[in-house]
Amino acid sequence: MSEAHEKSGRVVPWMKRLTLIPLALAATVALAGPALTLEETPPSAADQAAEPSAADKATAPAAKEDQVKVPPAKDSDQGAAAATQATDQVAAPAAKEKEARHESARHEQKPRRFDWSFAGAFGRYDRAQLRRGFKVYKEVCSSCHSIKMLAFRNLSQPGGPEFSEKEVEALAASYKVKDGPNEAGEYYDRPARPSDRFPPPFANEQAARAALAGNYPPDMSVLAKARGYSRGFPLFLFDALPGFSYQEHGVDYIVSLMEGYEDPPPDVKLPEGQFYDPYMPGRRIGMPPPLSAGVVTYDDGAPQTIDQYAKDVTAFMMWVAEPHLESRKRVGLGVIAFLLVFVGLLYYTKRKIWTDVPH
Ligand code: HEC
Repeated sequence: MSEAHEKSGRVVPWMKRLTLIPLALAATVALAGPALTLEETPPSAADQAAEPSAADKATAPAAKEDQVKVPPAKDSDQGAAAATQATDQVAAPAAKEKEARHESARHEQKPRRFDWSFAGAFGRYDRAQLRRGFKVYKEVCSSCHSIKMLAFRNLSQPGGPEFSEKEVEALAASYKVKDGPNEAGEYYDRPARPSDRFPPPFANEQAARAALAGNYPPDMSVLAKARGYSRGFPLFLFDALPGFSYQEHGVDYIVSLMEGYEDPPPDVKLPEGQFYDPYMPGRRIGMPPPLSAGVVTYDDGAPQTIDQYAKDVTAFMMWVAEPHLESRKRVGLGVIAFLLVFVGLLYYTKRKIWTDVPH
C-alpha cells in the first residue's frame, strides 16, 4: 500500500462521519419542523385549497365537536362554533381562517422571563428569598393549596430556607395533624412534630371544590417543575444540549400568571368563579388573584409588592419541587471538570503510546 493510499484510508472514514452531522441536523429539522409549525401557524393557503377532500369531510364534524367540548363551557363560543360549522359547507377556507384566528385569541401568552438566582450552572437558592417565599405560602397560598410532600423538618435542612431546628419545632407545634387510632380505636388531633408533613387545607378534593366554586387548587409540591411551555423550533434544540437547556420555564410561568390578571376583553364573558389571565392555558383561571401589595409583612426590608411576593413564593415552590438542585449542579460541574482533565490525560497518553509508530 502506498503512503498516500494509507493516509486517505484513515481520512475518508472521518470525513464520512463528519458529513453525518449535517445530515442528522437536516433530518431533525425535517421531522420536528413541520410538527411545530403546524401547532402555531394557521392553515396555509395550500392546506385550504386541498381541504374539501372526501377524507377531510368525513373527519371534520368529529374534530369540530372536540373543539367545542374542550374549553370550559361558554355560550358565545358554542354559538360561534355552531355558526362556523354551518358556514363551513358554503365557504370552507374563509370559515377555517376565522376559526384559526378565534383559536389563537384563546391561546395563552408566552411567559415573561425573570432573573433567578438558581438559574444556570452555578445557580444557588437565595436563603432570604426562600424564607420570604415560605412566609407568603404560609400566610396566603396555604389556605387553598396543599404542599403534601414537604415535611416541617425539610425547612431546616441544608440547601433550603435553613430555619433553625428550634424555629421548625415551634412552627410544627402551631399546626394540628390527625393521628391515631389510639387505644380506644379513635383518631385524634395532636400538635405536629418536625417529622410530620404539612397538613392540607382541605380534607379531600370534593371539599376543596365545594368551597371554591367547583375549582380544585393543585398540590404545590412539584408544581414549579410540572408547569412549563415549549419554546418551539429552533430554541428547543438548545434545550436538548446539556449545559444550554433553560430550566426556568415553570417559575417564569408562575410569576407571569400571578402578575398577569386582567379585566377580560369585552367579547369574553366569564362564568362565576372564573378570572381572566392571558398566561393561563385557555386564558381563564379558577383562582381569584391571590396577591395584593402589603398582604404579607416582610421583616428583612424587601419590598412588599406583588412582584416581590410572586418571585419569592415561586422560588420557594422551586425549592420544594427540587430541594437538591444545588448539589445536582455542583456534582455536574465536578463531573465536567473531571472529564476535561481526563480528556487531556487520555490525549497525552495516546500521543505517548503512538510516538514510536511510524506514520
Ligand atoms: C382562594 C384559594 C386560593 C389561594 C389563596 C391561592 N390559590 Fe392558586 N389556585 C386556586 C385554584 C382554585 C386553582 C385552580 C385554578 C384552575 O384550575 O382554573 C389554583 C391554581 C394555581 C396554580 C396553577 C395554575 C395552572 O397552571 O394550572 C398556581 C401556580 C397557583 N394556583 C399558585 C398560587 C400561589 C403562588 C398562591 C399564593 C400566593 C395561590 N395560588 C393562592 C386557588 C387558590
